[in-house]
Amino acid sequence: MTVDNEIKGRLALITGASGGIGAACAHDLLAHGVNLALTYSTNKDALSELVKQLRGHDAGCQVSSHHCDVAKDQDLTRLFDEVEREHGRHPDILVVNAGYGKRTSNILDISIDEWDYTINVNLRSSFVLTKLAVPHMLEQHWGRVVYISSIAAGGTSINGCHYSASKAGVQGLSKNLASKMGKDGITFNDVAPAMITGTGMIPTEDNLKGTPGDVKNIPVGRSGSTQECANVVTMLCRTGYMTGQSLLLSGGLK
Ligand SMILES: NC(=O)c1ccc[n+]([C@@H]2O[C@H](COP(=O)([O-])OP(=O)(O)OC[C@H]3O[C@@H](n4cnc5c(N)ncnc54)[C@H](OP(=O)(O)O)[C@@H]3O)[C@@H](O)[C@H]2O)c1
Repeated sequence: MTVDNEIKGRLALITGASGGIGAACAHDLLAHGVNLALTYSTNKDALSELVKQLRGHDAGCQVSSHHCDVAKDQDLTRLFDEVEREHGRHPDILVVNAGYGKRTSNILDISIDEWDYTINVNLRSSFVLTKLAVPHMLEQHWGRVVYISSIAAGGTSINGCHYSASKAGVQGLSKNLASKMGKDGITFNDVAPAMITGTGMIPTEDNLKGTPGDVKNIPVGRSGSTQECANVVTMLCRTGYMTGQSLLLSGGLK
């Protein structure tokens, strides 16, 4: 079997590119010559600014921007139609990054509606997006799917059990698909970050004070950067021998 880890000229769909980690992934993949389809949900201005910066690099790559609330099935199917119209094909690389999590840690304070919404945004949409992306990847016998899960999947979290459950579900989805579809040329992995600042979820280290993610509890003594997350995502896209893995990116936090 041939080894093909070339990502230059491929098309990546990154959900939640209006946020910190998604935007860093967009910059990093563009620097590797990847065309981009990027989504936002509520923060149109952030995505417009990002697209302006990316187009300013003149990397010879096509960059498109799309509105998509991943909790709505009709938005997800429309997104794939739009990507096809703008790029002439569906994505070769899917980065499932859009995510939602509230810092409600007591189960008694988590409503059923909040549970359902968190599962929809983080887990259900991961399944639907993957289902939409897989046919094109199967056809060309090449695809990369990277999910942004969380350290919370293993229990440690500044958020509640609903968030942990949604991210653990994403890891199960990824590992199952990796073992089922390895022979189809598609890899599935997840990056499990912890305490990444410069994001809407955790703007600065001050937002971690007094929580399990306080930098004094992190072995490397600092929070992580969005660029470090993007480094791992790009590595996974360029490394077809790696599949079914959860990569904990946590500065040593367990
Ligand atoms: N920061 C961390 O330490 C950390 C740790 C573990 C896991 N994560 C995961 O990393 C991913 C990216 O988060 P981030 O840290 O970069 O935070 P962020 O800056 O707040 O970004 C979150 C992104 O998700 C999008 N989003 C939220 N709800 C959505 C919905 N219903 N439909 C579509 N998009 C939606 C947001 O879009 P709009 O802003 O346009 O609404 C935004 O682009 C998430 O999956 C998060 O769970 C982050």
